[in-house]
Amino acid sequence: MTKTFYITTPIYYPSGKLHIGSAYTTIACDVLARYKRMMNYDVFYLTGLDEHGQKIQQRAEEAGITPQEYVDSMAVGVKDLWQLLDISYDKFIRTTDDYHEKVVAQVFERLLEKGDIYLGEYSGWYSVSDEEFFTESQLAEVYRDEEGNVIGGVAPSGHEVELVSEESYFFKLSNYADRLTAFYKEHPEFIQPDGRMNEMLKNFIEPGLEDLAVSRTTFTWGVKVPSDPKHVVYVWIDALINYITALGYGQNEHGNFDLFWQNDKNHEIIHMIGKDILRFHSIYWPIILMALDLPLPTRLVAHGWFVMKDGKMSKSKGNVIYPEMLVERFGLDPLRYYLMRSLPVGSDGTFTPEDYLARINYELANDLGNLLNRTVAMINKYFDGQVPAYIENVTDYDADLAKVVAENIEEFHKQMNAVDFPRALDAVWNIISRTNKYIDETAPWVLAKEDGDEEQLRAVMAHLAASLRVVAHLIQPFMMSTSNAIMEQLGLPVVFDLENLELSGFPENVTVISKGTPIFPRLDMDEEIAYIQSQMNAGKPQEKEWNPEEVELKSEKDQIKFEDFDKVEIRVAEVKEVEKVEGSDKLLRFRLDAGDGEDRQILSGIAKFYPNEQELVGKKLQVVANLKPRKMMKKYVSQGMILSAEHDGKLTVLTVDPSVPNGSVIG
Ligand code: MSP
Repeated sequence: MTKTFYITTPIYYPSGKLHIGSAYTTIACDVLARYKRMMNYDVFYLTGLDEHGQKIQQRAEEAGITPQEYVDSMAVGVKDLWQLLDISYDKFIRTTDDYHEKVVAQVFERLLEKGDIYLGEYSGWYSVSDEEFFTESQLAEVYRDEEGNVIGGVAPSGHEVELVSEESYFFKLSNYADRLTAFYKEHPEFIQPDGRMNEMLKNFIEPGLEDLAVSRTTFTWGVKVPSDPKHVVYVWIDALINYITALGYGQNEHGNFDLFWQNDKNHEIIHMIGKDILRFHSIYWPIILMALDLPLPTRLVAHGWFVMKDGKMSKSKGNVIYPEMLVERFGLDPLRYYLMRSLPVGSDGTFTPEDYLARINYELANDLGNLLNRTVAMINKYFDGQVPAYIENVTDYDADLAKVVAENIEEFHKQMNAVDFPRALDAVWNIISRTNKYIDETAPWVLAKEDGDEEQLRAVMAHLAASLRVVAHLIQPFMMSTSNAIMEQLGLPVVFDLENLELSGFPENVTVISKGTPIFPRLDMDEEIAYIQSQMNAGKPQEKEWNPEEVELKSEKDQIKFEDFDKVEIRVAEVKEVEKVEGSDKLLRFRLDAGDGEDRQILSGIAKFYPNEQELVGKKLQVVANLKPRKMMKKYVSQGMILSAEHDGKLTVLTVDPSVPNGSVIG
């Protein structure tokens, strides 16, 4: 009977360089995928990129390239990073892949036909950074004008929100609320860590699921709704569906999809996600699957965040840690080990350079590295490199060592299945510590003396080698090179049998290498801490050095020279036409005659103050005529700026007497 295991990372937004947060999730999934492969599961490991949406469109605009060019270039960097981190994914999906886009469009149409999706009008807050809708009461902070109207705010993530008012399709989530609640009840293990399920029930499901806006019209970078192409599918709907399109759903279902999209005792589907995106995965995604009559995943594993001592990582704070730097300086295995050992299940963990180096020096170089060095050196010294055959119960300590090893192998499997990496590694380090202690207890240098005990010495060497073989097996999914190096130094083939792992499984007639090399060098803590800190600061926007001349200038900063003013060309321009800009509640589009032969187009953010905009036609206004043209709302070029006076929170355009000819210079 084939056992299958389907494991996925979230698909990341390629909106910037990925830091150790995304590296954490991707390594965590890699560790699980490697573990399950070693346990003889048929594994499919999926990762990829979430390439549509307003945020990506904006990033591309800032970079002055098309969104497709932007995501293509980012995808190269991300794939390079996963190669550097030795990620064994089976597929890398990009939501701009053709097959994915086609199926997303089909799914949307199908849900429309079924009546799960209907057309409406959305008005509310949107965080572009989170690509998430919020009601006013969900905002962490709101900004108000003098009259108390909400004019902006901040999402719980700390990102600013903007007001969105647009035609939108909605998903009737409430149709599925009862089924979702019933599913939760039948599968209390669906969300890890425990407690989060209750949070979802209390905060979102029990108060009544609100219908979800599932399309946008104010930008274009997404999958177009075939029957109504001015709408693009909301990026989260597009993104979640990746988990099935990657397997062939809607294309060729008789391959990976049939095999891996099953949820029963022999088939597991696990989505590994960060705690911030649990709502999407625990509510919207199951409901989409229900609407498509598909099985639900086995488990959602929601991990906490890596934060820094001074809070979230951010470029401006100069506290971002990029994985490349750590790998280049210290190698890959310490990074994989540190990330997996340091983030407790479900909670946040703090990354500090001190901890990073302490774990390398104490746990890797001392505890594990020295154990290997000493073992290989002693077997060379006492037995010319030949590992004595394993025998039980010769010294007083053999039985206890064997017991600790057996118990911790079991514990390791238990914790790996619970997706608790720190505890799984604790189990391995229990074996390592017990084995180090065993050396002190048995004192092989005493047994090797003339009046010592050769039989006991044989037993001790056999136990040490056997224990290291066990350790090499258990750390293989985490630290591949270290594990392979241990096997090689012990003189074993680099082949693993994790399912039948036992201390007594050490083969006969093995010769260790004649001279072992340290697997982890000891590092100078102070020097390396300073190095990591300097690298963190390298990404920080530089603060200017103090400069007395500049201080003087600053005190005069509200004053400009006449030449500066003279550069601005302000002219009289007559409004020929004006209209509201579709998709924006702020902008009006003007056609004006500024006396320079051709009419010019200007977009101005004054719509709110002129609800009856036609009153402006025929008026003579003041415009900045030599402003560099700007592209706005993706398709309009604005050739100048209309001057207005700001008063009482309002804007009023500056008019000129009708007798003044168009194009007259103001100054
Ligand atoms: N594109 C969506 C996911 C769609 S999945 C169908 C997204 N992308 S993201 O790039 O913003 O975030 C991806 C993941 O990185 C999330 O799970 C998030 O929790 C995680 N992390 C972001 N910063 C992190 C840390 N500092 N530490 C750990 N994980 C962090 O959301």
